[in-house]
Amino acid sequence: MFPAERFPRLLAGLGSVYDDAAVYKLTDELALVATLDFFTPIVDDPYQFGAIAAANAFSDVYAMGGQVVLALNISCLSECLPPEIIAEILRGGADKVAEAGGVLVGGHSIDDKEPKYGLVALGFVHPDRVLTKAGAQPGDALVLTKPLGVGIVTTVLKAGQAKPAHVDASVASMLKLNRVAAELLQQGTTHACTDVTGFALLGHAWEMAEPSGVQLRICAGKIPFVPGAADYADMWLFPAGTANNQHAYRDHVGFDPDVPEEIQQLLYTPETSGGLLAAIPPEELDALKARFAAANEPLWVIGEVVTGTGIEVSM
Ligand code: CO
Ligand code: CO
Ligand code: CO
Repeated sequence: MFPAERFPRLLAGLGSVYDDAAVYKLTDELALVATLDFFTPIVDDPYQFGAIAAANAFSDVYAMGGQVVLALNISCLSECLPPEIIAEILRGGADKVAEAGGVLVGGHSIDDKEPKYGLVALGFVHPDRVLTKAGAQPGDALVLTKPLGVGIVTTVLKAGQAKPAHVDASVASMLKLNRVAAELLQQGTTHACTDVTGFALLGHAWEMAEPSGVQLRICAGKIPFVPGAADYADMWLFPAGTANNQHAYRDHVGFDPDVPEEIQQLLYTPETSGGLLAAIPPEELDALKARFAAANEPLWVIGEVVTGTGIEVSM
């Protein structure tokens, strides 16, 4: 972590791998959440790419329990690109900022042959309500707010082999803000929270288990997947990032023998703009489920927190 005595207002951040965003206390009532993210196009439609990049960038604010207030564009787009394509990417981002309830207040552009787009996201959270990965306790339920599998679907899309219906479902999932999910989590007690992105479910789960000093038990049979993900997993069309994540985290993950190899690989596959993964005290779970159901927000219970270390996956 960080030398708290030197940065008494810094509630999270300073390079800790265990924080989704930096959190800086402004007053006893208000803390600033700061993060950024940008990447190369993952879908063909420029408007959707811009909007997904924004939803993905904001996700780390939501993972800290905050809400987005300001955003800034990071635009690395070739001047050779048709101006209408650039305009569509920026329009997608701007619309998503508005949907988040934030204000787009500027940005910076450079000429870049390989297009990249993303945003700086600034949010607010109450200093006493900051959600980190470090608070999971034995007995907690593990909940997830989006299905997994968009990483394999977008990989197959890049290879030109994905079915349009599969792409549409993954795009819809990536476009969805974690805004409401974060609000609903904040209406009760949440012991730990993060979002599922490039390190896959298992990498991000380990980032929660480790600083919390607990073991996460995940039931693979309860995990939702976007349409097509299981088909492409059967065809073994995983991105290179799957093997990288497996290499990085396998020492911390145990699988029951009946968890199929394809499912194991899916759980190591990078996600983009994934859902929130949260540890919920068991006595609060029914109320949380009821709040999500009333708001028409999806929620899956995918496991539990126990004493121990690392991740154990059963079927
Ligand atoms: Co994150
Ligand atoms: Co991030
Ligand atoms: Co500038």
